[in-house]
Amino acid sequence: MSASILDGKATALRLREQFRDQVAALAARGQRPGLAVVLVGENPASTVYVRNKVAACEAAGIYSENIVLSADTEPARIIERIEALNRDPRIHGILVQLPLPPHIDEATVLAAVAAHKDVDGFHTENVGALALGNPRFIPCTPRGVMALLASAGIALCGREAVIVGRSNIVGRPMARLLLAADATITVCHSRTRDLSFHTRRAEILVVAIGRPAMITADMVKPGAVVIDVGINRRADGSLCGDVDFASVREVASWITPVPGGVGPMTIAMLLANTIEAAQQAANQTERFLAA
Ligand code: GUN
Repeated sequence: MSASILDGKATALRLREQFRDQVAALAARGQRPGLAVVLVGENPASTVYVRNKVAACEAAGIYSENIVLSADTEPARIIERIEALNRDPRIHGILVQLPLPPHIDEATVLAAVAAHKDVDGFHTENVGALALGNPRFIPCTPRGVMALLASAGIALCGREAVIVGRSNIVGRPMARLLLAADATITVCHSRTRDLSFHTRRAEILVVAIGRPAMITADMVKPGAVVIDVGINRRADGSLCGDVDFASVREVASWITPVPGGVGPMTIAMLLANTIEAAQQAANQTERFLAA
């Protein structure tokens, strides 16, 4: 059996069509959604991701600002720029591209983003809201995975879900979302003793570890749904995921390709979160004017 492809590129394009209409409706209410993307340093992968995010905003009619700071920028200067964006009424969402250069404390910088503009869902307040089951902004990659599963009608209730990776960006919020969808969750990480034991039990397997083609067919339960969050560059410059696509597609029932799987969904969900932030601002303004 060869798995069906979970086509993130096509699903994201469909969503982005709908976003254009939502953006136009908000612009008509005087709140054209706006996103600021802050990039510190010249990490080549981050530079490409940021370029793609800004281009997707423009295509949807979202106002965007791309703030590029040199790698040696003092943390206090980065925080000043973020605070100015917090006050800027054209900006509804602020994203600080990670990773930051090693001398900068990520937690301190992320805490400077106003929680109501935190479209990445990384602020303590938003992480807490998600943990309590009442989310405001859901981190873009796990939200994209959930949307992709929903687009294919894949049931989650009562199923065994195994997540490989425990990052704040993917693994942890992914676990919370799958738990909220009534799946049974296992989170594996670098200290997990027998990784294959866990992955072979998974009906839904989400892999976010950053190791090229690490998950091979023998580690996958026949019929599993396999979601590959990894984006790695091979020596020849081509991209591959954390899953060995060629072998795993022969045992899985559904699989995401890399590229064209989770990546485009992450960008689509960033647009969704930015539009939602602008909707919240528009509602607040209208309530204020009506009072
Ligand atoms: N680096 C890798 N993924 C992400 C993401 O979703 N948001 C931000 N801000 N940085 C990232």
